[in-house]
Amino acid sequence: MANNEESLKKIISHAKEYGFVFQSSEIYDGLSAVYDYGSFGVELKKNIANHWWKSMVHFHENIVGLDSAIFMHPTVWKASGHVDAFNDPMIDNKDSKKRYRADVLVEDHIVKIEEKIEKEVDKASKRFGDSFDRIMFLETNPRVVEYRKKVEEIKSRLYKGLENNKLADIKTLIEELEIVCPVSGSRNWTEVRQFNLMFSTQIGSLSEGTNTIYLRPETAQGIFVNFLNVQKSARMKIPFGIAQIGKAFRNEIIARQFVFRMREFEQMEMQFFVRPGTEMEWYNFWKQERMKWHLSLGLPAEKYRFHDHEKLAHYANAAADIEFEFPIGFKELEGIHSRTDFDLGAHQQYSGKKLQYFDPELNESYVPYVVETSIGLDRTFLAVLSYAYDEQKLADGSERVVLHLPPFLAPYKAAVLPLVAKDGLPDKAREIMDLLKVEFLCQYEEKDSIGRRYRRQDAIGTPYCITVDHQTLEDNTVTIRERDSMLQERVDIATLHDIIARKLRNNK
Ligand code: GAP
Repeated sequence: MANNEESLKKIISHAKEYGFVFQSSEIYDGLSAVYDYGSFGVELKKNIANHWWKSMVHFHENIVGLDSAIFMHPTVWKASGHVDAFNDPMIDNKDSKKRYRADVLVEDHIVKIEEKIEKEVDKASKRFGDSFDRIMFLETNPRVVEYRKKVEEIKSRLYKGLENNKLADIKTLIEELEIVCPVSGSRNWTEVRQFNLMFSTQIGSLSEGTNTIYLRPETAQGIFVNFLNVQKSARMKIPFGIAQIGKAFRNEIIARQFVFRMREFEQMEMQFFVRPGTEMEWYNFWKQERMKWHLSLGLPAEKYRFHDHEKLAHYANAAADIEFEFPIGFKELEGIHSRTDFDLGAHQQYSGKKLQYFDPELNESYVPYVVETSIGLDRTFLAVLSYAYDEQKLADGSERVVLHLPPFLAPYKAAVLPLVAKDGLPDKAREIMDLLKVEFLCQYEEKDSIGRRYRRQDAIGTPYCITVDHQTLEDNTVTIRERDSMLQERVDIATLHDIIARKLRNNK
């Protein structure tokens, strides 16, 4: 599909029409950046989460699970640095009254310069053909050299401003680059200010006195504070990991990108505890492992790329994103962070409790280092859904919308369809449902013409449609129609289970 906002709009409208995702509280005009998953969406989302859980927890003997609470002691967020440092630098345009992340405005400007560089490269590679040397061109072409110098200078000023909290310098940078508001087109900007992204609420009744607590902005801290509980009770030896899937909350200011950026979302995180000094080895290991996991979903490798961070979060000594090519371009899908002993060290200091591991091989105790893998479930859902969405023109001139979902992730694995809702066909179809539903989630449908039912199943990504017709009553065979090729085959009912099982295995 075209790589633009238009294709995202089509996916949003398809997701609503076919029960994947609804705007939260829609009858009250919706709540911005909060979404509900419909009957098909919830199945797809659960299938993705189960695949992650199986790959991370069940297939690694040294990773165990956890389900910690959303509410945590408020000091957790002081220790983790979120109270003081989980901020975004925001700037408002006085004419449009729109608010933007100041760093994103500058980064978007950098992308524009980088696109100019790529245009020059494209032109030159067409001119020089096979003899074109990209690296030499980037290093010697005067215009490109100038662009690259400009990018480096902007990045350096931006990151210095962010690291040293020099917000006035970032405002000056925005002014010097003549960045305009995409809505009003004006350069009438406010000062840059920091906004904390955590939601807060009160715990306890007023008579007892209340305490401000936060809705967790990441699931990771639940893992850190339980590090010793889990290590001791599950008898884990370093290196080992703790994995968790759960809700996280952020008061995102820019939240206009469907389930890509939400205020309530789900994370799938794993903290891997290692011996200090070995963290870079494990960081590189998990970078590769996680990319392999993404490829196991069956989406093409060229849709993914690594992006190594230059500006590091307050807790990291190395960090990379796995980016996916969403309809809105290449964007972060997962983060892999080497978090050093920052979190455990801070919790040890704030709680006054030792959070150390006794390493029998070294005969010494230490605060472990941590390598984290952190992926958004909703973003993975969007990656899978947006890649699967396809509008096809068929040979007979008709059109269909089909979701080419990886079969093992599809909400329904098969639909069982009696050709007509009479002559004993529904009873036979129900027998097939009973045969398959123990292992596979199937849908029974008898309303509308068979053609319309096929289209509906295509639109929700069901890999197989099994049609029961009059011949079925005579010889116990059915037709099985494959979603992508639309080819139909007549098979014995006794083989259905194996055919579906094989298809699901092949696609993992
Ligand atoms: N514990 C580390 C951490 O939370 P992060 O890069 O801020 O790191 C990890 O978030 C992942 O969570 C992101 O790669 C993204 O997939 C997902 N995520 C973050 N903010 C999100 C939001 N507002 N809406 C949806 N997903 C989000």
